[in-house]
Amino acid sequence: MRPMFRISKRQMLSLALVICLAPVFANASGFEGRVSADVDTPIVGAMVTFRFGSPFQERTVFTAEDGHYQVSGLPAATDYAIRVRRIGWHDIRTSGSTPDQGGQQLDFTMVQHTDMAKVAAQLPANHWYALVLERLTDENEREQLVRQCNMCHQQGNAATRLQRPPEEWHKVLSLMARMGGGLEMEFRKKLPELFNSAYDPKTAVPRLTKDFGQPDFAPPPDAEVRQAVIDEYEVGGRSSMQHDMIIHSDGYAYSVDMSTDTLFRLDASIPGGDRKAFAIPAGDFPLGGLGADDALPSNSEMRVGPHSAQSGPDGAVWIALAVSNQLAIFDPIKESFVIEDLPGGIFPHTIRFDDRGRAWYTVAVSNHVGVYDPKTGEHDIIRLPARDFGEEIMLRMLPFAMWLSQWVDLSEMGSASEGLAVPFPYGIDIAPDGGVWFSQLNAHRIGRVDPDTFDVTVIDTPFKAPRRMRFDSKGKLWIPGFSSNLISKFDPKTGEFEQFALPEELLGAEAPYTLNVDLKTDDVWVCATNSDSFIRYQQDEGKFTVYPLPTQVTYTREIGFSDDGSIWSSNSNAPAWQIETGVPRIIRLNVDGQINEQLAGSNP
Ligand code: HEC
Repeated sequence: MRPMFRISKRQMLSLALVICLAPVFANASGFEGRVSADVDTPIVGAMVTFRFGSPFQERTVFTAEDGHYQVSGLPAATDYAIRVRRIGWHDIRTSGSTPDQGGQQLDFTMVQHTDMAKVAAQLPANHWYALVLERLTDENEREQLVRQCNMCHQQGNAATRLQRPPEEWHKVLSLMARMGGGLEMEFRKKLPELFNSAYDPKTAVPRLTKDFGQPDFAPPPDAEVRQAVIDEYEVGGRSSMQHDMIIHSDGYAYSVDMSTDTLFRLDASIPGGDRKAFAIPAGDFPLGGLGADDALPSNSEMRVGPHSAQSGPDGAVWIALAVSNQLAIFDPIKESFVIEDLPGGIFPHTIRFDDRGRAWYTVAVSNHVGVYDPKTGEHDIIRLPARDFGEEIMLRMLPFAMWLSQWVDLSEMGSASEGLAVPFPYGIDIAPDGGVWFSQLNAHRIGRVDPDTFDVTVIDTPFKAPRRMRFDSKGKLWIPGFSSNLISKFDPKTGEFEQFALPEELLGAEAPYTLNVDLKTDDVWVCATNSDSFIRYQQDEGKFTVYPLPTQVTYTREIGFSDDGSIWSSNSNAPAWQIETGVPRIIRLNVDGQINEQLAGSNP
């Protein structure tokens, strides 16, 4: 009989390493084989995905230079749905199972596409969106479109790149404005024609596939990237939005589902992942919470709107409840919640802890930063500077406007002029000296709150839309420019910004939402939203690496690290129905393929 695994000495060595380092499942198994077009033509960089369980886990590996792949750590005697994917080739979809013992050999033969429309459809959304952005010669319009339209979901994916009659576009754009994607009215009027011409398959498909068959058309990721193993765990349902996730010190991953008011806990040490759902107390809040319910998609059940989560120094999972203006504090041992009302402000957003155990959080709509000390019960709300006097008045009127909006539709008014967009305090992080730094997304600036006096200073960023930011181990602040196609390093000592344009392969059509710094290496990991990828920036080498992810329509908003070096996030494209398979996922990327299922988690 043919041996299940034919392994070279070199592979044996790395396998031995994997086995030593990774206490894989007791009855672990796997697959191994070759992906090729024919005997002489290996397919390099194909993604081979194994799905099992319900709700499912998917594990994806890449094929090497010679077309070989090997996936380990999968449960034995289990059935798998298998998909092999490489841009330019028909997806292979088949099934297979692991034996009771050992691994399973499976080879695949791929067939190249001949229909260019199908090839273009395999490209991530950024390829299509680049065709829209190149038509925008006015930089302010380009910037506005990315900032306002890439906030919830991708642009240029299969659901958003459809050509539509102008009146249908107007309906869509008016709904988007009500939900928060407002644009200057004159600009908005141009969009139906702009989208319809950019997304016209007659011109777009030949453009997008003109180099088909050439080496530089959708080249495979390089050898370093191909070592990666990607795990995805289905969480929630079709109406879910897994906004943020964290890796907790208890070794579990937690994610908050903003549209179903649920906290999910994932135990990745169980094959397939063991999930538990905790309903976040919603009290008597109506649909939409304190916000307007007509701005909700029809399938949303949001009453409190858990937006972001953070591990507290007390071991609790702290959650910002955006639409009920509360914090939820989840005790993972008692599995119960304590709810803390905000002393003021609208839309609590991102939470970070200082070394005195205080929770600092941005309050996005009303332009505040809040600080809550669970030890003393002191809870303060700090007003951040507005851009000008008019905005100051507008922000002070907001509670009244929200009350009024129950009866009068103010959304078209709010979106009529970009000047009315609120500053939107967004990211927040604590500097090594205890200073609390925040970004104001729409005001294009960052600022510092003094941790003792609460005095606020603001600094304009030399780029637009600073989003969720983090300090590295040397006290430098890393900031993604959501609509600026870059990340930036800010030195609080000198006040200098250094900017790093995202890699050219992303075509300038990416919108980096969040970054986080792995403090062990000071590598900066960026949540890409429009190209189905994670982006790594290695400071010491000054090098960007793009890690392609296997699921079409992957949109990530927060990033965490577990002690084994895995990178974690959640796919929170909203609406979830645009995601391939229609349901969100928690994602884990292990760069060197050495997965430790027993996470000792950490998420600074
Ligand atoms: C606040 C979140 C949010 C923002 C901002 C947003 N969208 Fe959407 N978008 C959604 C949701 C949710 C849906 C799905 C609506 C549904 O299922 O009823 C959607 C659906 C769409 C669709 C598909 C509509 C359909 O019926 O097939 C298009 C196209 C679209 N959005 C374009 C845009 C554009 C262009 C912008 C910027 C002006 C934008 N979106 C901004 C949340 C958003």
